[in-house]
Amino acid sequence: MLFMCHQMAMKKEAQEKLKAEQLRRAQAVSDIPIIWILGGPGCGKGTQCAKIVEKYGFTHLSSGDLLREEVASGSDKGRQLQEIMTSGGLVPNAEVLSLLNAAVTRTKGISKGFLIDGYPREKNQGIEFEQKIAPADLALYFDCSEDTMLKRILARANAAEVKRADDNEATIRSRLQTFKLNTSAILELYADKTMTINAERDVEDIFMEVVEVIDCVLQKKQRAAKVC
Ligand code: AP5
Ligand code: MG
Repeated sequence: MLFMCHQMAMKKEAQEKLKAEQLRRAQAVSDIPIIWILGGPGCGKGTQCAKIVEKYGFTHLSSGDLLREEVASGSDKGRQLQEIMTSGGLVPNAEVLSLLNAAVTRTKGISKGFLIDGYPREKNQGIEFEQKIAPADLALYFDCSEDTMLKRILARANAAEVKRADDNEATIRSRLQTFKLNTSAILELYADKTMTINAERDVEDIFMEVVEVIDCVLQKKQRAAKVC
């Protein structure tokens, strides 16, 4: 009996420590903006992120790039990731979130804000991110037709010296399917912080709207910080 009580007390203590650690992490990053970048394959997430980084100096964390780095390392885990990525499916969130968490932890002391590109791709990813890392201030959703996305990726693949392993027509179609299956649930769950942007336009026109939205979020965050 005494042993059981001791075990329960230890478990409670461990849970409280975990909660305190999660709260500490959330507070540490909550004073800088966290922006999720959503949209299907080839909609222009990376292109817009590069422009945002240039203007605002934010830290760009692309889940796809982080996974490709792991693949490039040649590890066993990398080989498993590669298989999933070339099938056009989603890598288990434990892998993606741990890569993102490590990158946020590494850079949060010097970062002006985070662009989390290609995440969340299904609604539970969003829930886990906000529990384990920090709440997102904004989700930018780049809305684009499948036809345009397919054409953009094929054009990128044709122009590339080193082609991405998942930039072939069969895998692109599977990536589009995965995207279609999961995205409406994300948009529904995060409707209050999602801004949908028409990504069928010219890169600069899209970026002008992106800037308006980000400026608005930054102002809101500054006002909130003053009240606190
Ligand atoms: P990821 O690397 O994120 O690929 P993606 O989402 O399929 O998107 P892309 O990177 O191909 O396109 P983009 O939207 O960045 O467009 P870009 O700016 O390059 O993910 C790869 C894989 O990793 C996933 O399939 C999955 O397996 C795994 N993964 C990633 N995240 C995950 C997660 N959270 N959970 C589980 N698994 C995950 O533009 C494309 C082309 O179009 C470029 O050539 C560009 O120059 C051009 N272009 C861009 N904008 C315009 C424009 N407005 N007009 C004309 N051309 C344009
Ligand atoms: Mg990209």
